[in-house]
Amino acid sequence: MQKNIIIDTDPGQDDAVAILLALASPEINVLGITCVAGNVPLDKTSFNARQICELAGKTEIPIFAGCDQPIGRGLVTAEHVHGNTGLDGATLPKPKIELHATHAVDFIIETLKGAPNKSITLCSLGPLTNIGTALQKAPDIIDNIKQIVLMGGAYFEVGNITPAAEFNIFVDPEAAEIVFKSGVDLVVAPLDVTHKALTNPTWISELKAQKSLICDVVAGWTSFFERFDTEKYGTQGAPLHDPCVIAYLIDPKLFSGRHINVEIETKSELTRGMTVADWWGVTDRPANALFLNDVNAAGYFSLLTARISKL
Ligand code: BDR
Ligand code: CA
Repeated sequence: MQKNIIIDTDPGQDDAVAILLALASPEINVLGITCVAGNVPLDKTSFNARQICELAGKTEIPIFAGCDQPIGRGLVTAEHVHGNTGLDGATLPKPKIELHATHAVDFIIETLKGAPNKSITLCSLGPLTNIGTALQKAPDIIDNIKQIVLMGGAYFEVGNITPAAEFNIFVDPEAAEIVFKSGVDLVVAPLDVTHKALTNPTWISELKAQKSLICDVVAGWTSFFERFDTEKYGTQGAPLHDPCVIAYLIDPKLFSGRHINVEIETKSELTRGMTVADWWGVTDRPANALFLNDVNAAGYFSLLTARISKL
């Protein structure tokens, strides 16, 4: 049976690859794409989401703009990683499809309210502002959420935007706290797993060998955003974070992790947005998330090529 999902996102090249993977996969039915401010401001993330759907030829997918600021904080963006547009690395035409007039948070709430019990999976690829706000405004939607699968946080890898925090959680720790305390079934793809899913020259060559416009665009995006992490970490490739969320839905056996307690630091300026993950079970705090820490990288990249080349 197809999985009904809403993708909440701040594209971002890796978000874009995640969206393409979802749109290319028969196991998945994308009910809508909700945009949030993150890698770049909201006007750009909602523009980019439309470019991505048009690139995929999926102009029927409804796209919504959501929160333009985190809950109670100023926005932090990541143009230093993703470029000024958020999607630097390939030139795409100005999108023709329009944004829906409905606010993304209202779309999430209305869709869940009209859905059967535990029937919709929320896939979060950016700061959790839209999802946290929806849970705050309409706590009864929880019953109809099957799972929240999110890219965010880190434990052994600690941080990428600060020494203590991963970008998505750092940008809106209050929203993350709402989600992690919600009681919803959570699957977390932190840096611990995404840093084991590094792009590599062989994969880029395979993409280019497909002779497909979409694969060429993905190769262009990847080559652009890699430069930041390859310089920083001294590796040959860069983590392709967000598609881990969609790959987990398609083939969870590619991943492994532990059910553990994860709490979000919201108070300290030094460690704001840290995901305090009880990996070793040293507290009696109850488990609230499946925290992934390993991936079959070869299987992950084969899945990406196989699916995206078919779009
Ligand atoms: C996360 O932050 C963004 O830069 C990426 O799109 C990803 O969602 C990685 O920390
Ligand atoms: Ca993202």
